[in-house]
Formats: sequence, C-alpha cells, structure tokens
Amino acid sequence: MDNNISTQSKSQLLSESRRSFLKGLGVLAGTAGVVSVAPWLSSLTAEKQAEWDGETRRARIALIGTGSRGQYHLHNLKNIPHAEVVALCDIYEPHLKEASELFPEARLYTDYHDVLNDPDIDGVIIATPLGSHAPITLDALDAGKHVFCEKAMALTLDQCKAVYDKYLESDNVLYYCMQRMFDPKYVQGVAMIRDGLIGDVVGMRCYWFRNADWRRDCPDPEYERLINWRLYKETSGGLMTELASHQLEVCTWVAGKMPSKILGTGDLIHWTDDEREVYDTCNVIYKFSDGRTISYETLISNKFNGMEDQILGSKGTMNLATGFYYLEDDDSRSGIKQLLKSVKDDIFAVIPAAGPSWRSETADSYIPHDILSGPTYVNHGQSTVGVDHDGSEEILSAFCQACITGERAENIVEEAYCATTLCLLGNLAMETSSTIDFPEEYKIPYMKF
Ligand SMILES: NC(=O)c1ccc[n+]([C@@H]2O[C@H](COP(=O)([O-])OP(=O)(O)OC[C@H]3O[C@@H](n4cnc5c(N)ncnc54)[C@H](O)[C@@H]3O)[C@@H](O)[C@H]2O)c1
Repeated sequence: MDNNISTQSKSQLLSESRRSFLKGLGVLAGTAGVVSVAPWLSSLTAEKQAEWDGETRRARIALIGTGSRGQYHLHNLKNIPHAEVVALCDIYEPHLKEASELFPEARLYTDYHDVLNDPDIDGVIIATPLGSHAPITLDALDAGKHVFCEKAMALTLDQCKAVYDKYLESDNVLYYCMQRMFDPKYVQGVAMIRDGLIGDVVGMRCYWFRNADWRRDCPDPEYERLINWRLYKETSGGLMTELASHQLEVCTWVAGKMPSKILGTGDLIHWTDDEREVYDTCNVIYKFSDGRTISYETLISNKFNGMEDQILGSKGTMNLATGFYYLEDDDSRSGIKQLLKSVKDDIFAVIPAAGPSWRSETADSYIPHDILSGPTYVNHGQSTVGVDHDGSEEILSAFCQACITGERAENIVEEAYCATTLCLLGNLAMETSSTIDFPEEYKIPYMKF
C-alpha cells in the first residue's frame, strides 16, 4: 500500500482546526515564547511546520480500543493528512464493527498482541480502560511501536513507575497526554500567569461537577464490567483518574513543582443503588512545601458549579477552562463609587465613611477578559474542554507527526507522570483518611518540591 501523500494534498488537507491552533500560538511572542511555556509543543511551531511541510510519508496507525473515545479519535484522524489508520483492535465485537465502518480498509484484530506483532504499524493509539493502559504500553514499547494514550498513565503507582522507566530505556515516542496541554487558551493563559498578569499565584482551585450516574447501558450482564469499567476499582481510579488527571496536570504545569502533602476525604453518597466501587464525591487538598494549596473538588450528583481550572493570584484570577481572566483592581470606578455601591447593596451596617482609598476586601463585580479573542473562543462562559478546539485533534496530529520523525515531545510523559501520581495519591488519602507525604520511591528527577 502506498502510504505517501503529495505535499499539495497534504497542505489542502491541513485541517482548519490546526490552522487556527497555529494562529492561536502566534499570540505568544514567537517560538521561544511558546516552547518556554509548553516545551511539548515544539514540533508544532511555525519553524518546525515549515520543515515538516515537505514530508510526504504517512504514519501507519493502529487504534486499540474502539469504544467512545477511540471512535472520537477515528473521526479526528480523518482530518489528519499525515495519518493512515491501518488497523483496529477491540475485544468487544460491536465496537470493532462500528469502527470498521469508519475505516473499512483497516485490518481487524481482537488481541492487541497481534497488533504489536504487525510490522506494518508505526504507532498505536491506546483508548482502552485505565486498567490496561500500563500493560499495553509496556508491551507496545517492547515491540518497538510509538504509543499514544490519554488521561491517567496507570492504575497503580508501581505501574506508573514501570511505564516511566520503560520510556527512559526505549527510543520510542510516547505521548501520554492530557489535551489541555495542547489547548491554545491554556497555553496562552499559562504564559500570562508566568508574565505576572495575576500577580503572585497564591492558590489553585479546580473542580468538576456533573449530575449523571456515569453508568452506560449494558446489553448483557456478562459485559457489565467491560462496558461500565469506570465504576470498578480493577479497571478505574474513579473521578480522580477520569476527571482530576487533566486538571491536576494544569496545576503542576502552572506551579512548575509538585505538592509534597496530600489529604482528602471522599465517599459514595448518592449513586448507591448499584454495585459500583468508586467514590461519587471527592475533596482533596494538595499542599506545596511553601504552604500554597491546590483545592480539588468533584462530584457527580450536582452540576451547578460546572467545571473550572482556576488559578488564584494576588492581582487576579485565571479561569482557564472557560477562557476568562479577572483582575482584582481592574475596576475603573473610584473607591468612593465602590463604597456607594456597597451601601446600595446593603453590605455594611456601619458605613466606613473615612478613608479616601477605600476598597472592598471581598468579591465585587469583576470584568471578564478573554484569554484568547476571536470567534473560535466565544464560549458564553461555558467550558470548551470536550468540544472542538480543546486540543484533542492537535495532540493526535502531533503524535502522528512524531511517528514519522521519531521526535519525542519534551516533558509530556513527565507531566502525565506527575498528574497521575497525584490522582492516585489523592485516592489513597481519601481511602485511608490520612495525610500522605509524597513517597520517595515514586519521585522522579523532573519533580521539584
Ligand atoms: N479527553 C480525554 O482525554 C478522554 C476522554 C474520554 C475517554 N478517555 C480515555 O479513553 C479511554 C477509553 O475510554 P472510553 O470512554 O472510550 O471507554 P469505552 O468503554 O467506550 O471504550 C473502551 C474500549 O476498549 C475496549 N477494550 C477493553 N479492553 C481491551 C483490550 N485488552 N484490548 C482491546 N480493546 C479493549 C473495550 O471493549 C471498549 O470498546 C479511557 O482511558 C479514558 O480515560 C480520555
């Protein structure tokens, strides 16, 4: 099979989303700016893209796990000109059949080992339940394949370490990743934080609230644990690995260091009428050695607060998920106008009339500023994570490019390792109701405490 493409058709096919992504990155001051904020993006900079434009090979990709996320990747792969989906693998026949309708020419497998033994495959995308991320990744790296996988790296700390050690031994590309790392508004927002826009970062507050049971319809009880793998500890780390993994990565990215203590409380309080094993409510505090904290909260029985990755600074607040920032002293109103507003709002029993520079100490109305402007990013205050332009397609495209060039993405695996260990330690802190010091044996040189 000829897996080359002409440069002309490649440029015609270069998806609109990638163009807008590259344009989005242009808001940062040149390549050096982008790479200093997000080193894993170096292959997507204008200079690298110019080199890459002459490349006509296509990466031969196999997808292992053709369920919901896997099929989402398949749709994105259709827009990636330098990718060719040559094989599909799943142990659940209905999902494999659905996927093969999207790529009828792909070879079909039911055992991932056969995929890894196929010499005509450059890279594998793993979209299977968390419990199998580490075993498949380890086997794939041993087989000389490049690997892409998302969210938490592994189900246990030992597995995380084993994957990381294998990655260091191997020459292969490993994209263990969270799509926020490729989302322009996160990249730009982190750059603004580094530039001091919101002052001293005094804390971080991330949350994800949903109201749904997290259960999927299961055609036969025989498949309950396969279809509803998120609910069982053998295959899932629950809300922490499925949701918090993305958000905690953002926190370590912003902080540039790791919390040294973890404390938390969690429980199963609402969705109690089935056999699920994972908590539906989690509250975890991650404490850095200087006293700053990440406050992490998630539950799936009330959605009022939605989702946010919020960085709190002494001069402002960066709401990365919704794409807005707010400044503490942004208000052009004079102190006396603020005071009059407080009186009107009946805030004070005693009116502090003295003091010409009076300022409120608690929340007043804040003016939202877009982190990125342009029609792509108009989101009416809703999170755009999980919809178009959340970085998912770009990260996949970068991986396919890396399958051809063999170029690793700097720090991407390390960031995933940091986030995953925090998720797993959060679960441990909740399960044991204890404060945990980050264990020495799972520290890697990348981590600063
Ligand atoms: N934004 C994100 O990063 C994001 C979003 C959704 C899901 N995910 C991740 O994608 C993965 C899959 O999630 P999903 O919602 O698609 O689950 P899913 O249950 O819909 O799909 C998983 C598929 O893997 C198959 N599978 C299980 N074990 C297998 C094995 N050993 N070999 C081959 N196939 C196997 C299942 O049969 C199923 O078809 C999870 O790790 C999840 O965390 C990431």
